[in-house]
Amino acid sequence: MPKPVFTLAEGQPVADPSVSTTLPTTIGSGGLTTLGDTLLIETLTHFNRERIPERVVHAKAAGAWGEFEVTSDISSLTSAKFLNGVGKKTPVLFRLSTTGGEKGSADTVRDVRGFSVKFFTEDGNHDIVGNHVPVFFVRDPVRFPSLNRSHKRHPATNRPDWTMFWDFHVNQPESVHALVHLFGSRGIPDSIRRVTGFGVHTFKMVAADGRFRYCKFHFRPTQNITHFSGQEATRVAGANADFHTQDLWDAISGGQFPTWKLYVQVMELEQAETYGRALFDITKVWPHKDFPLIEVGQMTLNKNPENYFAEIEQAAFSPSNMVPGIAMTPDPMLQARMFAYPDAQRYRLGVNYTQLPPNRAICPVYAPYERDGMGTVTRNYGGDPNYVRSTLSPGVPSQVVSDVRHTERIAHNAILGQNEILVDDEDYVQPRELWNRVFDETEKRQWVANVSETLESVPAQLKEAVIAMFSKVDPRIGQLIDAKTKNSSHL
Ligand code: HEM
Repeated sequence: MPKPVFTLAEGQPVADPSVSTTLPTTIGSGGLTTLGDTLLIETLTHFNRERIPERVVHAKAAGAWGEFEVTSDISSLTSAKFLNGVGKKTPVLFRLSTTGGEKGSADTVRDVRGFSVKFFTEDGNHDIVGNHVPVFFVRDPVRFPSLNRSHKRHPATNRPDWTMFWDFHVNQPESVHALVHLFGSRGIPDSIRRVTGFGVHTFKMVAADGRFRYCKFHFRPTQNITHFSGQEATRVAGANADFHTQDLWDAISGGQFPTWKLYVQVMELEQAETYGRALFDITKVWPHKDFPLIEVGQMTLNKNPENYFAEIEQAAFSPSNMVPGIAMTPDPMLQARMFAYPDAQRYRLGVNYTQLPPNRAICPVYAPYERDGMGTVTRNYGGDPNYVRSTLSPGVPSQVVSDVRHTERIAHNAILGQNEILVDDEDYVQPRELWNRVFDETEKRQWVANVSETLESVPAQLKEAVIAMFSKVDPRIGQLIDAKTKNSSHL
């Protein structure tokens, strides 16, 4: 390849990009800088504009390209083309993030990881925008900004603040299940390559005959799931804030491609009729014993980005990106997210963000009613009609329209009005099972230590409220936190 010749942004050759033009003066050395020096002006003004808003949440991340391959036949469950045909391969873009920290923050913090996958399918892009734990903190979308503010920086001190964190959660105890996960060993993965990924919401899978079932998506790493202790994570955060980012990059560039299996849990409509509010409540899981994992395929990450900003920062994942064969449900959180992500992306990346390289569909796109706007880089549909129902339009409607028109099986369960439901006993059942059946004694002790550390500087009354909240999961948890915090020399 011939060496590129330096030019200005519109191609004019530049003799030396490291030297600006000055006019000599008669008084000693130095010179007069002129507005005519386009190299200097372009360089300075572009630099001033190279920052864009970072994601309001999930700003710190690593990403990579890869492919997804179908390994089992689930054609009886869904007509989604990318999930059909054993051996079928689909390109993917992957992004793994922390939630609360800013773009330059440390990787090895205790936090929920975002797990985003964009499948570039022949029917357009399908995104799974999930988390590394199976449940979420809130079930009413109006609480989402408050949840995140309570985990971020205090408005006065500009520091993360455990008083704010616990003040939010004790008054929103629907988050107790997610908190039991967060303060367990899972809260600090030691590698991006070994995290689980959950779609979290309930979706629908629609078969070719139009029959649908409810489902949940699960990614499981084929490597063992491993974690850092709090102390190790703190040490690593100081030594290398980008530890996870580097680990993923080094593995891929060294040919050690990380892989995950994709599974679904499936609920038949008859089961959904009587399943109650956990059907669409993302503070709850569907037990594996009732809804076993069904294997679908395998994702392999095999290519690092050539340019982080262009390919990962400009990526726009959204739960609203769904292809025929998979559809939304009445989960209010899912519906709010379907609005919120493209809205955030229009603000962060501009109205034509779908034309940017990481978001461009690989199939033909014909949406002539979305045209113009800042930064149009396509031919903008030339002279095609820009109004609907034109007989002059070359476009024809798609025949695939049935997927989204289902009557939901919600008549007998409590989805309607779910947001107003106060936290009740049912909310403590699954965290109790997690604590009693999944955690062993070492994990329990470590969990109590992890929570107790965060209570060192919170007011006594709030500490009591935290103890009361976890005591409802199991009275022993409250006793252990109480004992641990009383014994701490910091209190
Ligand atoms: C990122 C909103 C709940 C996972 C974001 C972004 C917004 C947002 C505005 C930034 C998007 C961007 O700028 O590209 C919300 C709202 C929620 C919600 C309003 C609830 C009502 C959730 C839940 C999950 C989740 C339940 C997981 C199941 C993620 C992930 C990202 C993200 C993984 C990063 C996407 C990427 O990799 O670019 N969220 N979120 N969020 N959120 Fe949420």
